[in-house]
Amino acid sequence: MKKLVVVTGANRGLGLSLADEFVESGWSVVAVARSPRPQSTGAYPRDVVTVRQDVRKDIAAELLEVLNGLPVDLLINNAAQGAPHGDLGSIPPEGILNAVDVNVAGPLRLVQVLLPNLLAAPDPIIINMTSRLGSLAAQANGDFSHLSTSYAYKISKAAQNMLTVSLAQDLRGRVRCWAVHPGKLATDMGQPGASKDPGVAARQLRELVDSGVRTSPRFCSLGEQDLHW
Ligand SMILES: NC(=O)c1ccc[n+]([C@@H]2O[C@H](COP(=O)([O-])OP(=O)(O)OC[C@H]3O[C@@H](n4cnc5c(N)ncnc54)[C@H](OP(=O)(O)O)[C@@H]3O)[C@@H](O)[C@H]2O)c1
Repeated sequence: MKKLVVVTGANRGLGLSLADEFVESGWSVVAVARSPRPQSTGAYPRDVVTVRQDVRKDIAAELLEVLNGLPVDLLINNAAQGAPHGDLGSIPPEGILNAVDVNVAGPLRLVQVLLPNLLAAPDPIIINMTSRLGSLAAQANGDFSHLSTSYAYKISKAAQNMLTVSLAQDLRGRVRCWAVHPGKLATDMGQPGASKDPGVAARQLRELVDSGVRTSPRFCSLGEQDLHW
């Protein structure tokens, strides 16, 4: 039987490349997205099943209907949002709450709803797409002080990392849980000058999954050394 992956934010950017990569590698793919795929990128391959979902909302029954009790081998929580960078005095707290809703509560909602499907798989993995900018160790060291990153993005990605650690501890021995930084991608979210093709990151992530590494929790950067939490 084919392995099955559920990917969120699968209509554009890295999520779209992940859907393409896994389906081309013989996986069944459930592409979860709140918006349609842009026309310029063509259509999903026939084997990709799509489900409309804003991850800030309760997870729609449609996702479970589509899965119909099937084991989920891999959940990739890829959907994310940041906020524009601003001076301290002008940061809207609502932007932070929204980023935490999408980047932290969103993955938790998916995990809660899909847990029976994950536990039904022989060797399941949860991957939360994170950022090196969510590393408390690196931020405290000033490694990224030259970058204009919003409080909302940094705070929510650090919180998402803690979600990954918490899940790994809760699901120890049952589900491997990884926080994965994809690299500096040439996507809408990428920093100016970011040039990594999201297709390359998608291939590296699929190879990471295929590698069978057992470490959980793990905070890694695709194609590079593991990161400090
Ligand atoms: N780009 C980089 O350089 C970089 C670096 C480090 C980490 N990352 C991480 O990699 C992942 C993918 O980033 P990307 O570069 O592909 O970003 P992107 O091009 O901006 O795509 C973001 C995706 O998230 C979806 N999304 C946002 N809010 C959502 C919501 N409320 N419900 C459902 N979907 C929602 C978007 O859907 P809509 O089309 O509906 O908005 C879109 O599909 C993210 O987790 C990001 O934090 C990216």
